[in-house]
Amino acid sequence: MKIKFILPLFVVAVLFALVSFTSSSEPQYNDIDEVVTIDIPENVKAIIDNKCMGCHSDEAKGGKSKMKMNFDKLSNGDYSTGKVISKLDKIVKMLGKDKMPPEKFLAKNPAKKLTSEESKLISDWASSQSSIMKGE
Ligand code: HEC
Repeated sequence: MKIKFILPLFVVAVLFALVSFTSSSEPQYNDIDEVVTIDIPENVKAIIDNKCMGCHSDEAKGGKSKMKMNFDKLSNGDYSTGKVISKLDKIVKMLGKDKMPPEKFLAKNPAKKLTSEESKLISDWASSQSSIMKGE
């Protein structure tokens, strides 16, 4: 008598478990450990090459600047998704406050100052790239 009642319940429970298992094993879009490569559009890359790479690339001499922000690592997949997002957000923040390139450096190299259009191009790219990666 009892088994007639329990068996269907058991079947439902197994089906339910199967459904939730398959949906949770779908790839997570925002997998923080996944390594990514990102594309920097040519017009943005040209500005970064000219005005940022001297300090923020594999070839840069500086210790701290290279350690904190390396555009080679950003584009060739050496940073995890989480790190790329945080670096992109830092770019927007730094440029929003007019902090890069550093003032001291600009005093000697005024030609490296970003024009407001250049700053906007880099910031717009970085913030849209960051939004895409956050799945916004
Ligand atoms: C003369 C060298 C120099 C140039 C050129 C330069 N930076 Fe920097 N940058 C630094 C240094 C040094 C730091 C570290 C500042 C600190 O933490 O005290 C830094 C830090 C940063 C950070 C913060 C990274 C983090 O995770 O904290 C970002 C973002 C950044 N720079 C973006 C840029 C961009 C974009 C450009 C080009 C428009 C640029 N920088 C040009 C020297 C430079």
